[in-house]
Formats: sequence, C-alpha cells, structure tokens
Amino acid sequence: MCGIVGYIGHRLAQPVLLNSLGKLEYRGYDSCGIAVAERSLEVTKAVGRVVELSRLVAKGSATAGIGHTRWATHGAVTTANAHPHIDCRGRIAVVHNGIIENYLELRAALERDGHRFVSETDTEVLPHLIEKYYREGRLEEAVGLAVKCLVGSYAIIVIAAGSKSLVAARRDSPLVIGLGDRENFVASDVSAMLDYTDRVVYLEDGDICRVTADDVFIANSGTTVSRKVQVVPWTAEQVQKGGYEHFMLKEIHEQPKAVSETLAGRISVIEPAVTLDIEAPANPRNIVLTACGSSYHAALIGELLLTRLARVRARAVIASEFEQVEPTLDSDWVIAITQSGETADTLRATKKARAAGCATLAVVNVQGSTATRLCDDTLFVRAGPEVSVAATKTFIAQVVAMYLLALSRGTIDRKAETDLINELKLIPAYLSRLLDRESDIAQHGAYLARFTDIFFVARGINYPVALEGALKTKEISYVHAEAHPAGELKHGPFALLGPNMPVVALAPKDETYSLMQSSMKEIKARGSPVIAVVDEGDSDMEQVADYVIKVPAVQPLLSPILNTVVVQLISYYIAKTRGCPIDRPANLAKSVTVL
Ligand code: F6R
Repeated sequence: MCGIVGYIGHRLAQPVLLNSLGKLEYRGYDSCGIAVAERSLEVTKAVGRVVELSRLVAKGSATAGIGHTRWATHGAVTTANAHPHIDCRGRIAVVHNGIIENYLELRAALERDGHRFVSETDTEVLPHLIEKYYREGRLEEAVGLAVKCLVGSYAIIVIAAGSKSLVAARRDSPLVIGLGDRENFVASDVSAMLDYTDRVVYLEDGDICRVTADDVFIANSGTTVSRKVQVVPWTAEQVQKGGYEHFMLKEIHEQPKAVSETLAGRISVIEPAVTLDIEAPANPRNIVLTACGSSYHAALIGELLLTRLARVRARAVIASEFEQVEPTLDSDWVIAITQSGETADTLRATKKARAAGCATLAVVNVQGSTATRLCDDTLFVRAGPEVSVAATKTFIAQVVAMYLLALSRGTIDRKAETDLINELKLIPAYLSRLLDRESDIAQHGAYLARFTDIFFVARGINYPVALEGALKTKEISYVHAEAHPAGELKHGPFALLGPNMPVVALAPKDETYSLMQSSMKEIKARGSPVIAVVDEGDSDMEQVADYVIKVPAVQPLLSPILNTVVVQLISYYIAKTRGCPIDRPANLAKSVTVL
C-alpha cells in the first residue's frame, strides 16, 4: 500500500507535498518522490523516508505537483522504482496506489510501440499509456482512455508539464479531494490535507476528476457527476504525537475518550437502553461478522456477544476466507468490521454478501471510506484518527460497538441488560484508572522483551484478546507470539512450554476462572514463567502465577475491554525495550488495499 497526494493552488507546491507525504507515511515509507510542474516537470525521488527526500528537493517556484510514499509491491526498493513515474518525453508524471494486474501485457505492447521502461513497477505502464493517448491540453481524456485498459485497482494522480490542472481517477483504491481557498488537494486519505482544509469530497469508483486551483470537475462513464462535500470531524492536532514518544502510546491513552465517543448518544439516559440509528433486518436469523487482523478479533468478540446477549446465531469469518467458507448460504445480515473501511479482503467479502442478497452493515472508523458507501448502512466507531500501524483505540472502539450492537437487540432480561449498560458507561473511567498503572505493566513488558517466544492464553470471551495480544506482539516487537485457548494447550502446545516460553494468562473472575487456575498450574509445572492478568481483589492467583497484573474488576462479560489495554501495553513495552520502530513495523502498512 502507498500514499499519494496532489496539490494545485497559490502556495509553493514542494513544501505542501512534503508535509502531506509525511502525514501519509504510515501507508508506506520505503521510498518516496514528488513531481512539480511548470513549463517542464521536475521529478525528485529518494529511497527512505520523506526527510531523505526533503534534503534532495531543490527550491522551486511551482505551485502544482504530485507526490507518493511507497510500500514496495512490484519491484525492489530503489529510486528507479519510486514514484512518480514518467513517460518517454518526461512530460507526464503519475503517482499510483493499487495494483495493475495486466501490466505485463500492457508493458509488452507498449514496448513493441517503442516505449522505453526504466522501472520494474506495474505503475510505469500508466504514464506511457497516457502518453499514447495524450493530445496537448487534453489530459483528462487521455487518462480516461488509459484507465480503460487497466485490470486491477488504482487511485492515480496525473500531472503534465505546462498544465493548469491535475487529473485523478480511482477504482477500488481510496481517493479524496480537499477543497481549499484558491487551492485544492487530492490524496489517498484526509490526513494528508488536514493542515489546510477539512472540506472534502470522496471520489467513487470510476470517477475521473480534473482539479484546478479554483474548481473540481468530476465525471463518471463520460457523464458529469456531483459528489457531496463533507466536513471531516478530525483536526490536524489529532494526527500529531502530542508529547508521546509514539503514536501507538498516544492512541492507547486516547482509549477512554474513544470509548466515550463510541457510546455517545447511543444509550438513553433515563431507562438505560441501547438505540442505534442503523438500518438492520428486524429479526436476522444468522449474522456473519467479517473482518481481517485486529478487526477480526473484534468480530470474534461480537460473535460471542450476539450469541449470548442477542440470542442470535452469529459467526465471525476471516474476510480473506469468506468465499471459501460461503457464509452467505445461510446468513441474512453481514457485518463488515474495518477501521479504515478500505481493506481489500473485507470489501471483497462485503461485495460477495451484497451479491448474495444479504443486508450489510459497515462498522467503520473512517468517514467516507469505501465500506461506508458499499454497505446498506454504517455504524461509526468514532475512535478518531489512528496513525500508528498497530490498531489500538480503533480495536477497543470496535469491541464497544459489538456490545452496543448486541445490546441494541436486547433479548436478555431487563435487569441484566441494565446492569451491563450501566457498567459499560463506566468503562472510560475504568480505562483511565488502568492506564494510571502503565509503569507496572511496562515492567512486565520489559521483562518479556528478553524472550524470543511468548504464549498468550485465555478462555471464553477473553480468547480473542489473547489473539490480539499475540498479534500486537508479533507486529511491533518481532517476537514470535501465539495465542491459545487455555484448554487447548494440552492438545499440542504443551510441548513448547518451559523456562524459555513465558505465558501471559488472562484470568478474570468469570465462569472459566477455576479452569484457568488449573491450566496455569499445569503451565507452571512445565517450567514456564506465568504472568496472570486478574481482577483487582483477586489474591488467589498470586499463589499460582509468578507475576500478577491487576485490572479493575468489572462484570465478567466486559473484561475483554480492560484486558485489551494490558496486552497492548505489554506488547508496546516489549517493542520499546527491544528498540523497534513501533509506529511503523517492518513489512506492514496501516491500510491493506490489496488482496
Ligand atoms: C493490527 C492491524 C491489522 C488491521 C487489519 C484490518 O494491529 O492493525 O491487523 O486490523 O489490517 O484493517 P481494517 O480494520 O482497516 O480493515
């Protein structure tokens, strides 16, 4: 995945592009480049981060340009493979996010026509195709003809020497226009433009757009279309680190606020009840929750909550496996959980669900994202912008959205429902209390940093939290971590236990507690160091575990929310102790827009 940006207006283009690219680095950061246009094009590229590029950019007077920050897919990390890519005469430059599946055929045909290629990328076919169709001053038309040749996904921004406009187009990759005063922007996402404007227009698949300093013209299938102007509810400050060493830590600390926002206006005050303003089947027979990565772990919690609280059959299906599993055969409501709203696997699963006639709901953080437009309705989790690649506050917000969804269908007895809702409202305060104990949890993270393998174990509703702990640990600290339902250890993973395999055990006082105690005794007997995460007031586990982390005691069903914070902080401090680049883990990007 990559980040792209375009600017045209009254400011010098280079500083704007460099600043905006910096904001998009979370989408990819192995190499980057910009092209600015006056009578001729000036292209500068660098391997490495935007700071590297900024050292190479010579001062110029251009007020229009495009930029790209890359996460290599086709071709190694080299300057030649960095974008922008240009045509033979150096008159047209293109930045691209997505994958052109038929680029080998296109490239062979263009080479036969005499076009010379200098990179290994799929993207380079684009400037050559546009060159083939280009007539002076008619860039938009050439882009339209070029994209017709493409199979695959693309969000592109194109600029030509001497031109007074940028041309942008999208299919299956996000692209948003930012509207300023005598200036306009195009980018993969709004974070690139929040320093300049909060008024945006989200492009739709098939849109081709000409952007000048004063206007924006959008066409789809040859017809002029208008798209709604939206105001982004996020500020530029929200995408700064605000004194924290890493975005991940800042976002972990933003969780009390994120949960308050997820709950806001969705619980009635006098008679506690959850009301969600969403379009949903009245009595769904079977619900399928589909998602990837951390969002899938939220889906697993959702599966259990919908089953237990709403008494509805629900199952979580990994989005990339959706077609194989064919869950639409017996489901009538498919819920796609995706913080970005742009994850290709989740979007593909959602399209399959729609094609099969299921009602669809997107549980999303990013307004205007593709999932919100694809589904019948959206439940926004309102966690605010998340910059760190590792999902934290958006995961918590998704989990809270699962409680809301399950409770909104209210089939448990009224007293149990009221108790649960009342305690859900207190979660932000409990989270703040738990975050005050960060330094304790940090010590356990620092201790775990010396190991090369870690197990996370739990039972019941906390098993997805164990999965989340293992995922976070792998992702940001590069330590091998696995999660197991505690009862499964004896069926194989026991073989790995011993002094070099520490185990983090999530053991709230719920109906699985005594079984957890037995599992932990078995783990200890095999020599593994055990860190138990238990309720405040639980002194029994101290006899069993080597170390104990205490979390505020809440109703057992709500314990995953608090335990999540513990595993997030553990993984953060393992990564910090090991000196890892926490916000930008190797080989990963924030939003995965390829299948
Ligand atoms: C892990 C992480 C990923 C995402 C996954 C889905 O920390 O962030 O596993 O959860 O790529 O992304 P979304 O939620 O945007 O669909």
